[in-house]
Amino acid sequence: MIRIIPNKNNIGAEIDTDLQKLSKENFKIIINALNKYGMIFFRRQNLSSKHYVEFAKNFGKLADYPRLKGLNKKYPQITVVQRKESDKGPSFGEQFHTDSIYTKKPPRFTMLLSKLVPKKGKANTEFCSQYHAFKNLTEPMKRKLSSLKGVYSSEGPISITTKERVKEKGKKIKELKSTHKIIRKISSNYAIYSSPGHLVGFQPKIKNEVDLKKKLFKHQIKKKFQHSLEWEKNQLAIWDNRSMLHQATPFKGNRIMHRITIL
Ligand SMILES: [Fe+2]
Repeated sequence: MIRIIPNKNNIGAEIDTDLQKLSKENFKIIINALNKYGMIFFRRQNLSSKHYVEFAKNFGKLADYPRLKGLNKKYPQITVVQRKESDKGPSFGEQFHTDSIYTKKPPRFTMLLSKLVPKKGKANTEFCSQYHAFKNLTEPMKRKLSSLKGVYSSEGPISITTKERVKEKGKKIKELKSTHKIIRKISSNYAIYSSPGHLVGFQPKIKNEVDLKKKLFKHQIKKKFQHSLEWEKNQLAIWDNRSMLHQATPFKGNRIMHRITIL
């Protein structure tokens, strides 16, 4: 049994199925839904690390996340994203971004499996559809952005959260930089692929860089392109970094997420 329940305005969708009993046909339905909606999530998936990694491998090669340590020796691809009640300062990823855009080959997909969550609605992840953002651009802006690449840095505006972690762990992290085309086609739709948390410039260089950056940010994160995902325990979400921005919402409480990224 498999059932797709799209969110409002098709910004993400819930899929009702049992991931431990997944057929090839149903996986095709899942990948098509991911391409169409940008983010999909599944409730009540009490997966072991073995099952979680096996499911993730259906989507492609699993990435080594350069900045976080793996769960253990057996499952180095699972990274633990944890926040404790006593933690101060912003949590990991508290600004709209796409993951690791400052690397040459950023992960296409990111997966989170919730192991421990605060009360429902208290620690949502917000998504912002860049399919909708592209569709709502004016024609001159579509042309302008199609001719540009974005320059992205790990030291971009979002890096405050990284700096907090460095302060805690005392480990110095080298800056990573990369460039990518801003407009991308994913299956049959176009999306804006740019990360407000990491964008530091354009290629080729343009005169009104600051203005364009501001205009692009403002447009990309309009409320009408957004969906706020509530978490419950044992919920799995996967999103396409090429068509969805995401951000963590500030919260106080204990949360443990197991994260896998896929190239
Ligand atoms: Fe992220």
